[in-house]
Amino acid sequence: MKFFIDTANLAEIQEANDLGVLDGVTTNPSLMAKEGVTGKQNILDHYVKICNIVDGDVSAEVVSTDFAGMVKEGEELAALHKNIVVKVPMIKDGVKAIKYFSQKGIKTNCTLVFSSGQAILAAKAGATYVSPFVGRLDDVSTDGLALIEQMVQIYQNYDFETQILAASVRHVMHLVQCAEIGADVVTCPLNVITGLLKHPLTDIGLEKFLADYKKGNA
Ligand code: E4P
Repeated sequence: MKFFIDTANLAEIQEANDLGVLDGVTTNPSLMAKEGVTGKQNILDHYVKICNIVDGDVSAEVVSTDFAGMVKEGEELAALHKNIVVKVPMIKDGVKAIKYFSQKGIKTNCTLVFSSGQAILAAKAGATYVSPFVGRLDDVSTDGLALIEQMVQIYQNYDFETQILAASVRHVMHLVQCAEIGADVVTCPLNVITGLLKHPLTDIGLEKFLADYKKGNA
């Protein structure tokens, strides 16, 4: 299972990378804006900075919604660094653009996926990754994890090569359940990755081991 961090914050990306378990990064226009990264050149420069921290796939999202615009933007993004994955929304021209990029050998991440039908289309178009949004489905009283389960089954039925990248993963149990179901990748904020570390019995046990060592070596 691959771990991607879902942020454009360089310090957080560095911290997750230093942990030694990071496989890549996903960003979106909202995450870039949250870091105050605005203006085309600054955004492109920021992607390069991210690529220089992490040796893994980095999703960079197009903001055009027409085929020609997405192709132009995507080719520019892909030229920035070998690890850039062009993130394309699940809309009609997006599907065409994914097909185009896949024929050109450019990696893609089909984003804003909320149904298995959309996931089938993304795989048929040749997306490298497909991003179903678990948390946003949960937000509207729909079982996000059930979608991951259905997608895993469908992709297995046909040996689709597209990797299921569970996105909008908001807490540790989302991540653990995605692992149980068999998602290929999860993308989540830093606190979800570090949240995996936590168990009170670990803290209590370590405290006792260290106290006993101190007693015996006083
Ligand atoms: C990642 O690719 C998505 O953009 C992201 O996970 C969305 O997460 P959110 O629903 O918490 O904003």
